[in-house]
Amino acid sequence: MSITKKILIALLGVLIIIQFIKPAKNQSSAPSPNDIFANFQASDSTKQLIRTSCYDCHSNNTVYPWYAEIQPVAWWLADHVNKAKSELNFSEFASYTPKKADHKLEEVIEVIQEGEMPLKSYTLIHGNAKLSEAQKTEIITWAKELRNQIKPNIK
Ligand code: HEC
Repeated sequence: MSITKKILIALLGVLIIIQFIKPAKNQSSAPSPNDIFANFQASDSTKQLIRTSCYDCHSNNTVYPWYAEIQPVAWWLADHVNKAKSELNFSEFASYTPKKADHKLEEVIEVIQEGEMPLKSYTLIHGNAKLSEAQKTEIITWAKELRNQIKPNIK
């Protein structure tokens, strides 16, 4: 057997073995009482926008595409979701102190203004998550209003 063939077979073996090492899915069965929209006002359209463009990474429930069943793709996605949730979790937003909530909304405004979020690697595949200028303005206006609402509670 040629060396190339041996290497290919070894690689295939590794690919098959890693299929059995699945990361836990980000899918909570219980409703989230601390979800931002269960506690703070937003128009239906704004809720829809944020759920479509941010919730796959920044909430307790990801809607997984079929290829999320394949390793190492699933590891890569799980890493994104874990990092994203540790920065900002809309499902737990109402548990943040007013100071933290205000700061997170400030960051939301920044990342949208700078076009950093949703991640490019995500909008490439999820075209519907891409935000138009009007949609960006809608989210930013909502975030600013919410900041004004939260600010008086900062101690
Ligand atoms: C594909 C996954 C994904 C999507 C979708 C996504 N984010 Fe993120 N987000 C991340 C990751 C990962 C981080 C962690 C920081 C990093 O590595 O860039 C992050 C970080 C953040 C931060 C922290 C601030 C910072 O500068 O790091 C904010 C705020 C944020 N995202 C807001 C949003 C908003 C608002 C949306 C929707 C419009 C969104 N994200 C959509 C993955 C995502």
